[in-house]
Amino acid sequence: MKKEYLSISYECLSSIGNSFELESMMSEVVITFYQKTKASFVAFYEARDLSVPMIQAGKDAAFTLKQDSDKCYMKEMEDFFVIILPLRSSYMKFIYSKESDISYIFEMICGFSRKINFALSACAGVKELEEFNDELEERVREGVNKIREHENMLLVQSKSAIMGEMLEMIAHQWRQPITSIGMISNNMLFSIVISEDEPLDKPQFQSELEDINKQIKYLSHTIDDFRNFFKESKTRQEIYMDDIVIKSISLLSKQFEQNSIAIEVKNGCQNTLLYTYKNELTQVLLNILHNSKDAFESCRQENKKIAIDCSKKDDEITIEINDNAGGIEESILQKIFEPYFSTKKEKNGTGLGLYMSRIIVTKHLQGEIEAKNSKDGASFIIRMPILKKSEELFE
Ligand SMILES: Nc1ncnc2c1ncn2[C@@H]1O[C@H](COP(=O)(O)OP(=O)(O)OP(=O)(O)O)[C@@H](O)[C@H]1O
Ligand SMILES: [Mg+2]
Repeated sequence: MKKEYLSISYECLSSIGNSFELESMMSEVVITFYQKTKASFVAFYEARDLSVPMIQAGKDAAFTLKQDSDKCYMKEMEDFFVIILPLRSSYMKFIYSKESDISYIFEMICGFSRKINFALSACAGVKELEEFNDELEERVREGVNKIREHENMLLVQSKSAIMGEMLEMIAHQWRQPITSIGMISNNMLFSIVISEDEPLDKPQFQSELEDINKQIKYLSHTIDDFRNFFKESKTRQEIYMDDIVIKSISLLSKQFEQNSIAIEVKNGCQNTLLYTYKNELTQVLLNILHNSKDAFESCRQENKKIAIDCSKKDDEITIEINDNAGGIEESILQKIFEPYFSTKKEKNGTGLGLYMSRIIVTKHLQGEIEAKNSKDGASFIIRMPILKKSEELFE
């Protein structure tokens, strides 16, 4: 073989398979073959039945050629030679002038078919892998979104479970002031009726109206408290730990009073400033306090007590809530944080309270929550980092 042919073969061969992306890989092949073999036209067709090439170099000639063979073949036309190279589900077309050394070129092109096919397979494999990867990523994304949606749904569900009880509490908290308002206004009406033509006792009226105002303020304050709690905290905010504890207790105070449950706050966290999701942390405390209240209903305890104890060490805060309602049966202790686990089916317990509490503590507050039995009741312990506004975590 002539030295010149050897160099052309080498250059053409080296142009094959330099990329895993079909278009750029075949562009290099088409252009190299076109330049090195001095072709008048070289083209790559993505499918066997296509007449428009994906990549081409030079000028095509006007002729039709049936492309139905699986073998590399050459056809001599009046002014030029055509070489057709069938490939893996695609093909290449080459046109050479009559002056070309066609037998050498034909042999070389046909000889490269295996390598080109191999490179095409690699491109297809990589493409398939990329598509598979994309699909996999999409599926993971969908999965994560579904879990998130599910968690949000559970959050709403568990919130509305407490909401039912909250409405009951609002009703309890409102009964007394509404009765007072009714009584005061009846008194005033009575005074008007019996006064006949006598002048009314203005200072008396003023003091009664002030009383009514006070009661109305209390009513609207209660509603605001509950409404704020049901708003989702979109962002963290700075708040003192004792404010959260006090707020949680105040939302339940009437219920505890009616059930003669005493709450003791051993506040070792006074003046501990947190940068946290206030409503979510309140929700966790409410879930735990509610469960204690429920537990007292099925235990004979004269001296019902719940103790909340806060302590801090380094950059961590620990909140411990202990009741003396008999504790959690050892056989279910491992299950109480599971979704829908409840021993209160007859009371319509959803079994979401503690599950959501754990999600909130671990995912939103970057902490942990555990339950254990103490001497005469259950004990819930929440640990979480004390985050400062200046060191926001990435979530
Ligand atoms: N302080 C406690 N004392 C005894 N058992 C408890 C206590 N707290 C939780 N449990 C047990 O853990 C279970 C799960 O509690 P969780 O709050 O998740 O659901 P629930 O209270 O049953 O339902 P819901 O919260 O919807 O009212 C309860 O059914 C109860 O058996
Ligand atoms: Mg509960």
